[in-house]
Amino acid sequence: MKTVLIERYGEPAEVVRCAEVAPPGAPGPGEVLFDVLAFPINPADLWFCRGSYRLRPPLPATPGAECLGRVAAVGPGVTDLAVGDHVINLLRENWTQQRLVPATELVRVPPDIDPLQAAMLRINPPTAAVLIDDFAELAPGDWLVQNTANSSVGRWVVRLAAERGLRTVNIVRRPESGEALRALGADACVVDGPDLAARVAEATGNTPIRLGIDALGGTGTGRLAGCIADDATLVTYGSMSGEDPVIPRGELIYRGIHLTGCMLGRRLAKRDAAAVRDLYARLAAMLAEQRITLPVRAVYPIEEIARAVAHADEGAREGKILVTPNGPVASGGDTPR
Ligand SMILES: NC(=O)c1ccc[n+]([C@@H]2O[C@H](COP(=O)([O-])OP(=O)(O)OC[C@H]3O[C@@H](n4cnc5c(N)ncnc54)[C@H](OP(=O)(O)O)[C@@H]3O)[C@@H](O)[C@H]2O)c1
Repeated sequence: MKTVLIERYGEPAEVVRCAEVAPPGAPGPGEVLFDVLAFPINPADLWFCRGSYRLRPPLPATPGAECLGRVAAVGPGVTDLAVGDHVINLLRENWTQQRLVPATELVRVPPDIDPLQAAMLRINPPTAAVLIDDFAELAPGDWLVQNTANSSVGRWVVRLAAERGLRTVNIVRRPESGEALRALGADACVVDGPDLAARVAEATGNTPIRLGIDALGGTGTGRLAGCIADDATLVTYGSMSGEDPVIPRGELIYRGIHLTGCMLGRRLAKRDAAAVRDLYARLAAMLAEQRITLPVRAVYPIEEIARAVAHADEGAREGKILVTPNGPVASGGDTPR
């Protein structure tokens, strides 16, 4: 079968290759074999290829934090999954054609969800959910503010917040991103830059904001801190600038801003298995009912993984790049350039 391997860390398009490897074999007790229908290329996957992600395994290694699979065979003792079920995999190494994993690591998803959308369910949607739920007690009508709002996580934040009756100010780097965010329920969109705090205050009518959500890092974190109220919480969960957060000490000392961080795995580990499955069921229902649909920029075959990662590494790209390792799936998305 075909799998993606990296044999050295470096520029993603230069280090990924599609290799022929032995298939995983038949499932043993408690195991499930599934075909990978689709996987997205997320920023963390690119950092993984560069060797700058928190996980840096010995090489060769197969990247891939998430995917959608279709069950091909179940081992003895597996009663809650059947051949043909669509599943997301809670384990990594998904840039491949087939995986063999313990059934307990799989979450079944409704088969009527667009496969490309379902392939993007494991990481970004629950990250948005925990960012909203775990760091501040917000009531309907309250505001939150986030940067990199046009990201996949950012879009889920907008939709989830809107469905809870929360209001969002969304900081983007390109003015044209505002239209799609407003369609998802964004209350306000502002372009990052000087006087950000004043423009955010204008957008909220000077209403204090008690939660700021940061995936930009660098001085962007400090600009976001300037937008939230005294004693409010600023949670950082990514760094699209590639820089560590920089925040003026006055925001911490004089205004009591609570600066904290969020990693999905740690937040899910604080929930029991039933709560995690409930969360995924809630998010999957939103996809099934098309209450949110993420843009897809292009879909590539696994043999073209180098072109796919190069495309994913481009800035100012509207929509995710996905790969369908076992051939095209019925879904939207442009054809590769
Ligand atoms: N902590 C966790 O557990 C966790 C979980 C999931 C994701 N994340 C993090 O969340 C972030 C977003 O992930 P995603 O998959 O949602 O991203 P995505 O959909 O690929 O979108 C990336 C976003 O970053 C913006 N961007 C890229 N470079 C930028 C720069 N230099 N300055 C300002 N904006 C920039 C892009 O803006 P344009 O739209 O203008 O191109 C785009 O909106 C990443 O940092 C990822 O690692 C963290």
